[in-house]
Amino acid sequence: MTGQQQAGRIAVVTGAARGIGFATAQRLAADGVHVVLTDVDGHVEEAAAAISRDQGGRAEARRLDVRDEAACEALIAGLPRVDVMVNNAGIFDVKRTEDLTPEDFRRMYDINLVGMFVLARAAARRMSASGRIVNIASRAYLGAVDYAHYVASKAAVVGLTRALALELAPRGILVNAVAPGVIDTPILAAWSDEARARLASVQPVGRLGRPEDIANMVAFLASPTTDFITGQVILVDGGRSLGGLTG
Ligand SMILES: NC(=O)c1ccc[n+]([C@@H]2O[C@H](COP(=O)([O-])OP(=O)(O)OC[C@H]3O[C@@H](n4cnc5c(N)ncnc54)[C@H](O)[C@@H]3O)[C@@H](O)[C@H]2O)c1
Repeated sequence: MTGQQQAGRIAVVTGAARGIGFATAQRLAADGVHVVLTDVDGHVEEAAAAISRDQGGRAEARRLDVRDEAACEALIAGLPRVDVMVNNAGIFDVKRTEDLTPEDFRRMYDINLVGMFVLARAAARRMSASGRIVNIASRAYLGAVDYAHYVASKAAVVGLTRALALELAPRGILVNAVAPGVIDTPILAAWSDEARARLASVQPVGRLGRPEDIANMVAFLASPTTDFITGQVILVDGGRSLGGLTG
């Protein structure tokens, strides 16, 4: 995608202070999109400033907690236009089901799913025929042990993506999900170096994913020239979902 094809488009990326969201914002800005980086974390200001410096001012920051419905609505309503909505903000933690509480589930759902719905709804109202919504799911939606609340929230992201895709396709707005495998970002802080090395060794491609691996796919799905793909869940996981390896 060249800057010329994306010039004038505006994207909103949630959870963009670091990790996958930051890499996605970087990539979209490099493609010529003006990117609004949002995050509950104040580091989003520095993140946007860094991109803006490198990419001719094509980035700005907004503090946003995706659980705040009114703030989500106001952010979207206050932009001159919205062409791309990347719903990336998310949380993860490890807890066996016997220790999980309904409150753990609700917190996970509020951030990983309900915030996504609110922003997708608000963005869709503003989008024209080349609108694109990209939701970040996880390979975990296929099933995983020790974090049922996360798995369930990401399976719900897939369901939401498919439902929105059907509703919005007649308007030319395309909605897809990217399901990352294990990507080396701060979300993995709970894992020791040893656990990370073991994780890398069981990936068919022999390494953990990089934020850029996901950003590249998001940028592809966000482009107006990608106009015959909707309602899909694209696994970007180094082949991990294929099975065949132990561990
Ligand atoms: N890293 C992985 O291995 C992996 C794998 C599969 C899916 N994912 C998904 O990718 C997305 C990004 O993950 P990451 O690895 O970059 O994680 P990360 O923890 O590095 O970044 C997540 C960002 O979301 C922000 N955030 C958290 N709660 C928020 C809220 N209430 N409102 C606004 N922002 C909030 C955080 O401040 C942080 O900047 C998440 O949805 C995650 O579930 C990550």
